[in-house]
Amino acid sequence: MSKLAFITGITGQDGSYLSELLLQKNYKVYGIVRRNSTIYNYARIEHIREKLNLVYGDLTDGSSLQQTIMNIVNSNENFEVLEIYNLGAQSHVAISFETPEYTAMTDALGTLKILECIRTFSKEIMKKIKFYQAGTSEMFGEVLEKPQKETTPFNPVSPYACAKVYAHHITKNYRESYGMFACNGILFNHESPRRGGNFVTMKVVNAVKDISGGELDCLTLGNLDSMRDWGHAKDYVRGMWLMLQQNNPDDYVLATGHTTSVRQFVEMAFMHENVSIVWDGDIGKDSITGKVLVKTDPKYFRPSEVDYLLGDPTKASEKLNWQPEYDLEKLIEEMF
Ligand code: NAP
Ligand code: GDD
Repeated sequence: MSKLAFITGITGQDGSYLSELLLQKNYKVYGIVRRNSTIYNYARIEHIREKLNLVYGDLTDGSSLQQTIMNIVNSNENFEVLEIYNLGAQSHVAISFETPEYTAMTDALGTLKILECIRTFSKEIMKKIKFYQAGTSEMFGEVLEKPQKETTPFNPVSPYACAKVYAHHITKNYRESYGMFACNGILFNHESPRRGGNFVTMKVVNAVKDISGGELDCLTLGNLDSMRDWGHAKDYVRGMWLMLQQNNPDDYVLATGHTTSVRQFVEMAFMHENVSIVWDGDIGKDSITGKVLVKTDPKYFRPSEVDYLLGDPTKASEKLNWQPEYDLEKLIEEMF
């Protein structure tokens, strides 16, 4: 009997690592890919592309989701389980302020559309479907508790986080109303060499490399003082899978339990190239030459900011036996 997985966001950072994990575990892996004017959105899964079953689709297109999930179920008679991982999203917080409606349609209503597809199946089929929703520590927003855990109230401060709060609650609602096996992950920031170039860690690592290579003079950032709990995506996709292997569906925080400022991350990244940074306010200089290597620009600041994220992964550790294998030093090393 076959184990099936359907991944939205399969071309993204997490989708690519999750696909690798599930292929290793002999799942038949399906995914939707967005039509793009270039072919570059396949870059992260190019090495496994032939092993995946990919179709065009979009989270804003309910009929494409319905048809894809129907086809998976109908073409795999007597399957053991179908795990649906909803990782697709407009995932950039700053960009969500510029595209709030699209972010809500994809991140909030896209989730509802998948849950509705699952609901149309008979009870017998529904029992074999498990759903994972990619929730985020951004939902804690202007935090009401430190550290943040599953019971910490949400207080979102961006269109992205508001959309994800809807997705979280609708997932819980379908679990409770229809008895679906549906889990919410509440994942703190996780990075990797496959991280998109406009997230701060990848932007910093790329800039430090370019400055070392003489191709860039200075790194320009926004808020240097926000604190993030940064882990490695490989650890986090393992946690997603573990959530769906439990006897009962539940919600879990995945985090490292350590927090670091953007400013400290910049220092660590330069240190990787043996450059020590001294700060004059928000200007970062090479401690030996005095050359300005870091500055800020108002265009990278957000209309409202999440200042402090620190996760408490105790529940995941106790119930899923999940522990991250990477610390921040090891993550930065791999990103370089
Ligand atoms: P990512 O690299 O930005 O990938 C996002 C994926 O979603 C891509 O495959 C993208 O397709 C796809 N997508 C975007 N809009 C879509 C739409 N309308 N229909 C279908 N697919 C769409 O994000 P990630 O870092 O892998 O994160 C995965 C999920 O976890 C996201 O839901 C994110 O919000 C959530 N999350 C991430 C973190 C983190 O720190 N990484 C933390 C907590 C939660 P293209 O390749 O075509 O753009
Ligand atoms: N992107 C970016 N670019 N962020 C910057 C910059 C810059 O030039 N300068 C400072 N920052 C600050 C941001 O203001 C934020 O406080 C912090 O760096 C991290 O920003 P991002 O790397 O863009 O990540 P994020 O924390 O906003 O969101 C990521 O993590 C969430 C989980 O908490 C994304 O992956 C979300 O999808 C995810 O849900």
